[in-house]
Amino acid sequence: MRVLSVVGARPQFIKLAPIDWALRGNGHDHLILHTGQHYDKEMSGNFFEELEISAPTWNLHVGSATHAAQTAQMLIGCEEHFLEAQPDWVVCYGDTNSTVAAALAAVKIQQPIAHVEAGLRSNNRAMPEEHNRVVADHLCDVLLAPTKDAIELLRLEGLVERSVWVGDVMADVVARVGKKSEGRRRDSFVVATIHRAENTDRVDRLRNIVRALAALPIPVRLYAHPRLVDRCEAADVDLRTGSIDVRPPATHRELMSAVAKASGVVTDSGGLQKEAYLLSTPCTTVRSETEWLETMHDGWNVLVEPEGLYEAVMRDRPGKPIDGESFGDGAAAQRIVSVLEERLALAIR
Ligand code: UD1
Repeated sequence: MRVLSVVGARPQFIKLAPIDWALRGNGHDHLILHTGQHYDKEMSGNFFEELEISAPTWNLHVGSATHAAQTAQMLIGCEEHFLEAQPDWVVCYGDTNSTVAAALAAVKIQQPIAHVEAGLRSNNRAMPEEHNRVVADHLCDVLLAPTKDAIELLRLEGLVERSVWVGDVMADVVARVGKKSEGRRRDSFVVATIHRAENTDRVDRLRNIVRALAALPIPVRLYAHPRLVDRCEAADVDLRTGSIDVRPPATHRELMSAVAKASGVVTDSGGLQKEAYLLSTPCTTVRSETEWLETMHDGWNVLVEPEGLYEAVMRDRPGKPIDGESFGDGAAAQRIVSVLEERLALAIR
């Protein structure tokens, strides 16, 4: 079987890793098209090296641009490489502009395509990620859902026939790299990441978030996404203030080991909400909604506005343990490979 994965942004490299391991482990041909949406070493290359992902076969080098310009360039590159490589499957991941470009390019040329992490919704139509995931789900042939809730959401949109529950590929990665940190002693510090446009691109909100992080009574290890640094510079907001210890974006291993030791996480990242949960670290999410409702069980994750940050971060650790089953059993990627093999066999017959 020949599979062509399309990725471009940091969280997609993490989702790609277990699929690449499973495809190679099963003797399949795996081609990787990197759109170049993320291009800094610490946002891209480090993940391929550290997670031992096969080197990308092609890189479109689209870089940063407006949504339309970036997506348009990706569309052209995807079509060209899909036609050239003639894969049995294209696989797209998550909810970035690289995801929607792959889905649209594939469906137009009747190239079979599967969507990893299908069925998530925030119902917030101001988020670029929400446009991307809704469109990708409606275009793709096979919808690989990480949770049972995602299957129910796909059912509501009339997509259940194309949907399969497989579990969460990010749980596969945590199972492989994160479990060593179990039972670690907790230190009194917070791991923070903020990068969503809804938080970085409104100056008042950005200022309030930075002020709230700076006012926390424990050290805040802030791994700063380039978008955050860029918007803070433009708005004259100083990140080096109060409790904040600004650092460059972490490697995946560095981030997982910090989260496993920290007393809490503050984030607006979907992936980090899940990783914190899987590593039993209480999370505070600076957003008005989450696609990952499972993480909120028993108060392991709470949603706050910047004004509520102090109280939320300083809350007591939840008394009950996490539900280890919410995101599957760490074998999602193997299940995905089996689904692709079975559907291909049916199509050939
Ligand atoms: C993208 C995804 C988002 C995902 C996030 C993870 C979309 C619409 N958004 O957001 O869903 O959660 O990736 O990080 O696809 N930049 C660099 N170096 C890089 C990459 C980006 O400096 O390697 C800077 C540029 O100033 C750029 C900005 O970050 O303009 C934003 O990058 P972009 O790829 O547009 O979106 P993200 O905010 O990273």
